Amino acid sequence: MKKFLGLEKVKTAVFISGTGSNLKSLIKFSHKKSSPIKIQLVISNNKKAKGLNISKKYKIKNKVYSFDQKKSAEKKILDDLNKNQIYLVCLAGFMKILSKNFIKKFKGKIINIHPSLLPKYKGLNTHKRAINNGDKFSGCTVHFINSKVDSGKIILQKKVKIVKKDTSEVLAKRILKQEHYLYPLAIKKVLINL
Ligand code: GRF
Repeated sequence: MKKFLGLEKVKTAVFISGTGSNLKSLIKFSHKKSSPIKIQLVISNNKKAKGLNISKKYKIKNKVYSFDQKKSAEKKILDDLNKNQIYLVCLAGFMKILSKNFIKKFKGKIINIHPSLLPKYKGLNTHKRAINNGDKFSGCTVHFINSKVDSGKIILQKKVKIVKKDTSEVLAKRILKQEHYLYPLAIKKVLINL
């Protein structure tokens, strides 16, 4: 990963599928003078993603591609990334698995946020699984993407306590708050090497 030296901000794309609360927090972070990124492009596989309204509100270009034909969708996305000179890709609630070929083309430059303390609970329903297993803590992880789902090198993690009366919804909300704090920190770590 190239280092941010405080001159030109690193052109970044955020991939979403749903609400986009992480997108919103990343946009706010990107507006800070000390932030190393500029969000240039939002990509979604879902035309109904609420997060698309956030990109519109902040006047960030967005593109939507159905993944029914994954190969062609990914080809178009790679074109968009190249045209927009994107250097960093942040997955934020993006619910599609990118192909090995795509990951290879952007090797070491795609990061993701996942709502568990990886390597525990890869995949879906992380909160429910943590509660059902009687775990005392859960949390969130920002990690690099490699060819195996939720298995790339960990950049940062934040622990969140699970309390007795937690439902997965309540825990999800508490963890999401920490995600909004963790993702910007992880980006700084990767680009500035804090
Ligand atoms: C977050 O919990 C993220 O960790 C997971 O999907 C959720 C997306 O939330 N991958 P939002 O769309 O950023 O609000």
